[in-house]
Amino acid sequence: MKKIKKVGVLGCGLMGSGIAEVAARSGYETVVREVTDELLEKGLARIHGSLAKAVEKGKLEAAARDETAGRLSGTVDLAALADCDLVVEAIVENLEEKRKTFSALDETVKEDALFASNTSSLTITQMAMFTRRPDKFVGLHFFNPVPVMKLVEVVRTILTSDETFDRAFEFARSLGKEPIACRDNSGFVVNRLLVPYLLDAVRALEEGVGSVEDIDKGMQLGCGYPMGPFTLLDFVGLDTTYYIANIMFEEYREKRFAPPPLLKQMVLAGRTGKKSGRGFYEYGKK
Ligand code: CAA
Ligand code: NAD
Repeated sequence: MKKIKKVGVLGCGLMGSGIAEVAARSGYETVVREVTDELLEKGLARIHGSLAKAVEKGKLEAAARDETAGRLSGTVDLAALADCDLVVEAIVENLEEKRKTFSALDETVKEDALFASNTSSLTITQMAMFTRRPDKFVGLHFFNPVPVMKLVEVVRTILTSDETFDRAFEFARSLGKEPIACRDNSGFVVNRLLVPYLLDAVRALEEGVGSVEDIDKGMQLGCGYPMGPFTLLDFVGLDTTYYIANIMFEEYREKRFAPPPLLKQMVLAGRTGKKSGRGFYEYGKK
């Protein structure tokens, strides 16, 4: 199997920064692309903060941190990804944005490079067809926070070649993750089950079943979940959850995927969760 040496990551938000961090920590030369210098700086600062924390906690040697930082670079220029062996896309969950991005990538990046999307809910087939290399296209679905969560869903379409799938699966393993194989259905395995649960928590709140705090406490203490649903919604991002719900509802036309009005209102009001400083809870000053 051809070796992956250089990895490109598109988007340095919550997920892209985590994916770039684990790729660089695992020895890959990594270049991450954002749309503006300001967003790039913010994303890179998140990665360096996370590396510093790992050193502080004794999970990473200072020398390994420096080597990781040496393998990592940022750019706003798509051309910097031209010689990557694998590009992982982690931009906003919007098909039109992904279409523009993958069409441009296909023109820019060398022909034998693999493309992967970290999408939560779009189908990989749709995105693969925006390129002339659908056989080299997979889903690599990481979980938040990427440095901690062990799972990666590796998604193949009917057009993905066996070689591409095997290389992507091995890549996930090389990051210290546990990959599972998934078919290309919206939401794959985890979000197909998780998203209705999160949306149902919002509906329970709308119906006055309990308060945000009590519903969270119920699921944490009653089921042993590490976070209650509202803490998790704030953590994932209410905007991202809203986009995911719309896409999954459009795909399956089942009520359990329909975004509840309160979720839409929260997004319209700019309360997108932890990343904006306020969602169902408040987080410091932002
Ligand atoms: N980056 C790196 N490390 C982090 C981290 C981050 N952002 N957040 C937490 N950690 C590490 C901590 O350093 C700590 O490590 P040690 O135990 O080695 O010290 C460990 O994770 C546990 O952290 P804390 O003790 O601070 O807090 P916690 O015990 O509450 O755990 C958590 C935090 C791991 C996030 C845990 O609450 C959890 O598992 N929550 C659920 C997360 C989840 O469900 N993610 C999936 C979201 S859905 C998704 O991603 C798919 C999608 O498409 C939307
Ligand atoms: P985010 O809003 O935190 O970050 C997205 C970033 O992409 C932003 O910083 C934005 O500036 C950047 N971006 C937009 N267009 C771009 C382009 N053309 N090139 C480069 N950068 C661009 O979102 P996120 O939570 O990191 O989600 C990113 C993707 O990962 C989405 O597809 C989402 O569904 C998926 N995902 C999210 C989670 C989660 O828990 N948030 C988990 C798994 C998968």
